[in-house]
Amino acid sequence: MKFFIDTANLDQIRDAQDLGVLDGVTTNPSLMAKEGIKGADRILKHYVDICEIVDGDVSAEVIATDYEGIIREGENLASLHPQIVVKVPMIRDGVKAIKYFSKQGIRTNCTLIFSAGQALLAAKAGATYVSPFIGRLDDISTSGVGLIEQIRLIYDNYGYETQILAASIRHTMHLIECAEAGADVATCPLNVITDLLKHPLTDSGLEKFLADYNKTNG
Ligand code: E4P
Repeated sequence: MKFFIDTANLDQIRDAQDLGVLDGVTTNPSLMAKEGIKGADRILKHYVDICEIVDGDVSAEVIATDYEGIIREGENLASLHPQIVVKVPMIRDGVKAIKYFSKQGIRTNCTLIFSAGQALLAAKAGATYVSPFIGRLDDISTSGVGLIEQIRLIYDNYGYETQILAASIRHTMHLIECAEAGADVATCPLNVITDLLKHPLTDSGLEKFLADYNKTNG
């Protein structure tokens, strides 16, 4: 399973990269705004800065919602760096644009996926990734992990190569359940990745090992 970090914060991206388990980054306009990154030039430079920190794919989201606008913006984003994946919303013109990008060899991440039908459409259009938002589905009392299971089944039935990128992950249980359900990628905040390290029996076990070592060698 690939781990992406879901942030535009460069320190957190460096921190995750330093841990040695990072495979990529996802961003969105809300995450860019949270870091105070504004203005077209500054936003584009920020994407390049992220690409220079990580080795893997970096999703950069288009703002346009019309076909021509999505194509123009997506081609510009893709030309910034070979690691850029163009993030396109699940809307009619977005699906058409994904088809166009796929023919041009430009990789895409179809975002804001909330149903199996949307995931099927995105795969048929040739999306590289689909991003089902599991936390936001849970927020409306619908099983986010259940959607990952449904998409996995459908993609396996027909051999679609589109990768399932589980997004809107809020805690480690989400991450583990997505891994069990066969998501190809999980994108999550840094704390969800580092929370995987934690177990009280690890802490108490290590404390005892060190105490016993010090008793005999101290
Ligand atoms: C995915 O690409 C999105 O950026 C993200 O996972 C959305 O998560 P949220 O629901 O926590 O905003």
